[in-house]
Amino acid sequence: MRVLVTGGAGFVGSNVVKLLESKGAKTIIIDDFSHASFKNLEGVKSEVICADILDDSVLKKLPPVDAVVHEAAITDTVLDDNTKMMTINYNGFQKYLEYCLSKNIRLVYASSAGTYGDGQSPMKEDQKPRPLNTYAYSKYLCDVAFSKVYQKAGAGIVGLRYFNVFGPGEAHKGKSSSMIYQLYLQMREGKNPRVFKFGEQKRDHVYVKDVARITAAAIELKESVIMNVGTGTARSFNDIIDALNSVMGTEYKPEYFDSPLTGVYQDHTQASIELLEKFKLTAEYTLETGVKDYVSNYLAVE
Ligand SMILES: NC(=O)c1ccc[n+]([C@@H]2O[C@H](COP(=O)([O-])OP(=O)(O)OC[C@H]3O[C@@H](n4cnc5c(N)ncnc54)[C@H](O)[C@@H]3O)[C@@H](O)[C@H]2O)c1
Repeated sequence: MRVLVTGGAGFVGSNVVKLLESKGAKTIIIDDFSHASFKNLEGVKSEVICADILDDSVLKKLPPVDAVVHEAAITDTVLDDNTKMMTINYNGFQKYLEYCLSKNIRLVYASSAGTYGDGQSPMKEDQKPRPLNTYAYSKYLCDVAFSKVYQKAGAGIVGLRYFNVFGPGEAHKGKSSSMIYQLYLQMREGKNPRVFKFGEQKRDHVYVKDVARITAAAIELKESVIMNVGTGTARSFNDIIDALNSVMGTEYKPEYFDSPLTGVYQDHTQASIELLEKFKLTAEYTLETGVKDYVSNYLAVE
């Protein structure tokens, strides 16, 4: 099987590429490296095409592929350039949607829990979307485009609403990296970790190894569907600090500060995992076991 992974040099994309290759698939990456790291591609055999997903000429020259995993997007949710956000995230997605429909090949694309905004938890795929920012709105529009075509898509399309992903390969993301990574860096420097008052905002933190496994499995799904990718459990920032202290053997205390992001920030996210259960794809890592694997096997040995 040959799979095209857009955004394959990014965080989730590179983990998906590595997993697919370990299962014997051939991969092609399209990434403009605007928000990626070549370090994520260590050991990867993939053909790498450095290009913008908006560039039509790339798709015209592409060798035949069996499936597309579309991860490329602007992922800095607070980027102050709405045109860029919409053009790359929405128009870019539409190009790959049209490509897959015209070639009758499977498409798995990255949507986001951001589409639920401050909607009720556990967040179910069919509840009313409430995007709080342009990033979330751009992902919501991808899901709308999906819902208009999926019934005629013989080949099948799967939209994955990732919750808060953490794990190896996210270092290039800076301020948009996971809270787990950002708090770890502060603690590694010997500082008390800083979180919004009073650390009780809860998120569904899902380990990237689960995300890559579910994304790869979605290529094989027999139906078209939009599905959450989370653990089904909401955990607080204070819980993250406890999990990090436990693995690092430290006793740092949180330092609380006022959130500058009131109104555009999701205070509580928690995935309904009914669909993941239906497809026998539930997450295997908890916050604690994911943090342990991440810190012990990746961050502490850098
Ligand atoms: N990480 C999360 O917690 C999370 C949560 C919800 C949804 N998502 C979605 O998952 C996908 C992957 O996110 P990620 O965390 O790996 O982010 P990332 O920023 O590491 O990956 C995005 C990749 O897309 C590439 N890219 C951006 N614009 C491009 C363009 N115009 N042409 C070609 N390549 C381009 C970047 O260089 C990068 O490699 C994104 O679609 C994101 O919206 C991620």
